[in-house]
Amino acid sequence: MVDLHFKYKELIQILEKESLFIPDISIVLGSGLGDFAESVDTIKTISTSDLPNYPKSTIPGHQGKIHFAKYSGKNILLFQGRIHFYEGYSLNQCILPVLIAHQLGSKKILLTNAAGGINVNFKPGDLMLNDSFNSINIKKELTDLIGLGSLDTRNRFIDFPSSLMNEKFRKAALEEDITLQSGVYWFTKGPSYETPAEIKMMAKFGADAVGMSTVHEAVYAAHLGMDVGAISCITNFAAGISPVKLSHNDVTETANLVKATFERLVKRIISIV
Ligand code: HPA
Repeated sequence: MVDLHFKYKELIQILEKESLFIPDISIVLGSGLGDFAESVDTIKTISTSDLPNYPKSTIPGHQGKIHFAKYSGKNILLFQGRIHFYEGYSLNQCILPVLIAHQLGSKKILLTNAAGGINVNFKPGDLMLNDSFNSINIKKELTDLIGLGSLDTRNRFIDFPSSLMNEKFRKAALEEDITLQSGVYWFTKGPSYETPAEIKMMAKFGADAVGMSTVHEAVYAAHLGMDVGAISCITNFAAGISPVKLSHNDVTETANLVKATFERLVKRIISIV
């Protein structure tokens, strides 16, 4: 059994000392979406490499920075770069940004990610509300994390994502006149992309998008009693949906193209949550 609060005690103590405010919202920026951090007023930045036990980021486009920032009078805790299962880290390590946000007093969290579009009505550049998740292939790890592995037994049986957050995300999109798709995000361990056969199966099982993050973070946030919601940037057609070969470069390039729209949506969300 791992007591995460004990494992990260020193790291949390450092951040509590450094912290400038209680965040109104925390945001994890997904692949290619890290530039959002430059569009808000940053008051303080901490490199995760300076924090004891914080896993090193190994992927281009994930900077490993935590920002204390302000926008529209709101206090924002921004994670520029996330920790992935496919980098060889355990779920206990992947959920660290969520644990930090919670320990610093954040009651709300927005998770963002890059994802492959499975729904044939989606195209690269679309934004998709993660209406529901499929994490069937990490159920054991999730059980270890929030069931057996956590000393906190308050919220073992959780309901997520938060319908309140989703409602606000939809409202924000409407107010900004941004089309926000909605669908099921299917988690894969990665790091290899899926095969066309796997995508066909996921489509049959109701998936609209596929990616390598987010679900365990959302589960853990809900377990901690936080309001959690997630938005995907559909960066590519999933394997076999189009003949184009998948690459991480295309993922970051598409995320870059949709940067301005993503920025508008997230800013509006910050204003209204
Ligand atoms: N599959 C898995 N993860 C992803 C994809 C994909 O097609 N695109 C961006 N992240």
